[in-house]
Amino acid sequence: MPAQLRILFVVAETWPLVKTGGLADVVPALARALVDAGHDVRLLLPGYREVEEAFAGKPAGRAFEVLPDLPHARLLRGRLPGYEIPTWLLHCAPLYDRPGGPYSDEDGRDWEDNALRFALLGKVGAMFGTARGLDGWRADVLHGHDWHAGLLPAYARFDPAVTAATVFTIHNLAYQGNFPAATAGVVGLPAAAMQPDGLEFYGQLSFMKAGLWYSDWLTTVSPTYARQVVTETYGQGMAGVLQARSGALTGILNGVDELAWNPATDQLLPARYSSAEMAGKARCKLELQDRFGLVRGPDLPLIGMVGRVTSQKGWDLLPEAVEALAPRQVQWALLGGGERELEASLAQLSAAHPGSVGLCLGYDEALSHVLIAGADVFAMPSRFEPSGLTQMYSQLYGTVPVVRRTGGLADSVVQATAASVQDGSGTGFLFDDASGPALAQALDAAVSMYRDDRAGWARLQANGMRHEFGWGRPAAGYAEVYREALAQRRNGD
Ligand code: ADP
Ligand code: GLC
Repeated sequence: MPAQLRILFVVAETWPLVKTGGLADVVPALARALVDAGHDVRLLLPGYREVEEAFAGKPAGRAFEVLPDLPHARLLRGRLPGYEIPTWLLHCAPLYDRPGGPYSDEDGRDWEDNALRFALLGKVGAMFGTARGLDGWRADVLHGHDWHAGLLPAYARFDPAVTAATVFTIHNLAYQGNFPAATAGVVGLPAAAMQPDGLEFYGQLSFMKAGLWYSDWLTTVSPTYARQVVTETYGQGMAGVLQARSGALTGILNGVDELAWNPATDQLLPARYSSAEMAGKARCKLELQDRFGLVRGPDLPLIGMVGRVTSQKGWDLLPEAVEALAPRQVQWALLGGGERELEASLAQLSAAHPGSVGLCLGYDEALSHVLIAGADVFAMPSRFEPSGLTQMYSQLYGTVPVVRRTGGLADSVVQATAASVQDGSGTGFLFDDASGPALAQALDAAVSMYRDDRAGWARLQANGMRHEFGWGRPAAGYAEVYREALAQRRNGD
């Protein structure tokens, strides 16, 4: 067996301490799978107020200076609840001890000092990669996730004391952490790095670009998205940088954390079930209909959707699809929070269809489980989707996904045809155009099968429930990437 690696994940969120999206689901599950494969994986994340209250970490050493222009910080040491992964919280009250979310205040406005908040995280992460390390531990590989950890590879590159290799994972290229150019001085990065072959992005300092440019190896969360990000259409302005780095970019599809997402053991459901015994799913459906104010009816086709309410996820395509499917007596359960204008249009849609379009605005972890279990069909009409997790959860819960053929959706759902349903590979429905009619047509095909071909539908459900979405295979892919990064690091010296 290859030598065990010491790997530090530098992240802004992780389940079960703080979660706004799929990144939080990925972090502990991937860490756990790497631990199971024999590696020593640890986490570093900011000590936001609610996280510190829930974590009960022990102070590890004194407060220390990280950068001259930033407040002092200290580490709190503990273990991630439920996963037992050794975890450090980065304690720095002036930057993290406040009410609100990890990135924005209670009204959804980004924190004005986000550049400093996440620069501190990246810089302390890099300190773990020096020969001395921090708190008695040093990393072989520093693994930063998304723009919040984007400066980590830059600090590692510019500090000769850092010997660790760096890996940077793109979970979502749309969030880039771009700040005024003058930020470079404040966060202690050389002015000379503010150039196109470096941190500069259209006159700003970009955390995302720093991650893309300075890391030894890059990954993103599905093979299809890895091919898409080098194109102008999906590159979010970063296609050129990604083309330049495409020799060190690997796409690895996310897995499912079966500790949190398994219908046979899920304590957040009113009843549990498996492909051998599906009665519990019918109970979940009744509960879902009640919770969303829908007419009770075990045989009414129920379409669910859960996610951040942003244009990425295609919520704006729903009104047309709802109107198109209205004659078919379809029900909808919609759960999400995000952009105010989109939320308002969903509220209008729900008001116009009482009893058949149920809407719950906000974030509700328990309800998301009931929805994914109770619905018959799960809609995901994303304009782009790096990986997506809910289409995988829904398959394991016997809820048939209807998704746009893009990114990780294309890599995790197989079109249902007479042949694929029979041979066990078909698991859902895909469509190409990001339009209301294309979504409606794919949903219509799913609803027709649900209504008219119960045996075929049951097979389709069973195919999804049997699918192997575990983290073992992706974790082996990451282990490979870490070795590539270490080789790259050695070559660069
Ligand atoms: P993304 O990371 O782009 O938001 P993913 O599909 O990877 O999309 O992951 C989203 C995660 O966040 C899933 O675990 C999903 O259930 C959860 N989620 C998103 N919105 C909500 C919400 N309003 N309430 C509860 N859970 C939500
Ligand atoms: C991002 C992406 C999503 C992915 C998640 C975890 O938020 O939008 O597709 O599943 O990160 O990698």
